[in-house]
Amino acid sequence: MSANPSLFTDLLDDNVHTGPVYRRIAEAIATAVATGRLAAGDRLPPHRELARDLGVAVPTVSRGYREAEQQGLISSTVGRGTFVSGIPHLRDTPTPGQSAGAWRLDMAVNAPARSMHENLLRKALTTVSTTVDVGALLGYEPDIGSYEHRQTACRWLARSGLEVDPEQVAICHGGQHALLVALTASLRAGEILLTEALTYPGVKSAAQLLGISVSAVALDAEGLIPEALEEACASGTAPRALYCMPTAHNPTAITVSLQRRQAIVDIARRHDLLIIEDDVFGLLVEDADVTPLAALAPERTLYLTSLSKTLAPGLRCGFLAGPPEMADRLGALIRATIFNPSPLSTAVAMRWLDDGTADRLLDWQREEMARRRAAAAHLLRTHPAVSHVRTAALHAWVELHEPWSASEVVVLADGLGISISPTVYFGAGDQVLPRGVRLCLGNAAEVGTLTAAIRTLLGGLERGPTWASGTRV
Ligand SMILES: Cc1ncc(COP(=O)(O)O)c(C=O)c1O
Repeated sequence: MSANPSLFTDLLDDNVHTGPVYRRIAEAIATAVATGRLAAGDRLPPHRELARDLGVAVPTVSRGYREAEQQGLISSTVGRGTFVSGIPHLRDTPTPGQSAGAWRLDMAVNAPARSMHENLLRKALTTVSTTVDVGALLGYEPDIGSYEHRQTACRWLARSGLEVDPEQVAICHGGQHALLVALTASLRAGEILLTEALTYPGVKSAAQLLGISVSAVALDAEGLIPEALEEACASGTAPRALYCMPTAHNPTAITVSLQRRQAIVDIARRHDLLIIEDDVFGLLVEDADVTPLAALAPERTLYLTSLSKTLAPGLRCGFLAGPPEMADRLGALIRATIFNPSPLSTAVAMRWLDDGTADRLLDWQREEMARRRAAAAHLLRTHPAVSHVRTAALHAWVELHEPWSASEVVVLADGLGISISPTVYFGAGDQVLPRGVRLCLGNAAEVGTLTAAIRTLLGGLERGPTWASGTRV
């Protein structure tokens, strides 16, 4: 069967699509395959014909087809034409029980996008193996990392607006480990940790592991509400610490204003509250004043970040910075939990930070995610089931109109081959949760695959919740 030419007709509408035309062509193909408008074996229009219909140059169409071919969507045979290969190439492997090549996209795990990362890792491994004392990588290192590595870490932290000395910084095994160390250093079992009412699930599990009680502080559209924090501090059992994500909050994507940051810090000072600031997404936010709380209240803030969201989670490289008098305690806790961060992956991470690779990858990630966020927001915002969308860093937070519940949407998405996370996953207290879901935008192999998945999900929503639950009877 030949592809219906209407597949490509709205491509040139700048209100619907952004980016160069060749990309829009590849994206239209990805969407059509994902939504079933194109099936394996369908024939695409010849380059010349499509160029004429769209009023663009033939090389533009050729480039678009080439891009779709690189994604494994189509293949061309000289003399025969261009045909749909079938399923878009997703990075995910099929889950057990699924047929090979089944359409599945993980939008539940919050990971950055990837492009040239694998080649750069190969290069870094070669460089590390030839320029570093390889024998040293087989031994133990100082618990908080070498002084030289901590100097490198300080230069990276300065990009986030945090000026600290190497004596104040510890290298950890990723952000989750930094969080575990920060919690252990701040609280004992039975004590209370305040968190935003919707929070990163990893803090709930780490607190549970340590026997720490979590108590929620309400959020509004601008983030943690200072008055609610004040109230929580003044309540019967005085909390000792606050864990929060003022920049690109997970899951709501809110970035707190400088004024509110200042108010939070003032309250913490008045109530002698320690702050554990999680800034894993900070460097991905460019359009706001994101002065860290740690810069406003260095005497009471443990600041943590990692390279997982900006570069790659597999590096397992996190940084924890705090007041100088806490350094020994942090070292002891790292020793007690992992002895020292892995010298091999730390060496690769430090190489990337020192030789400019990290800057390049960060720039690329920022650009790529800006494109993905814009495409996702454009599709989601106009849908009747969606009441509110906010995007930041690597994710989108989507609130839904009645009658949809977050769990219904998650079940619906799962049936369509898309994993997403409902509000309940992030709820920290007993409060009523918004009807929300988080979509992670980084795992799709490219923006066309992402928009195809979102269109598929929105198509499912159009059929209504009755249809979704009907699939389960
Ligand atoms: C807010 C937040 N903090 C910390 C982490 C842990 O990151 P890492 O991979 O560096 O352990 C995550 C991971 O999803 C996160 O979302």
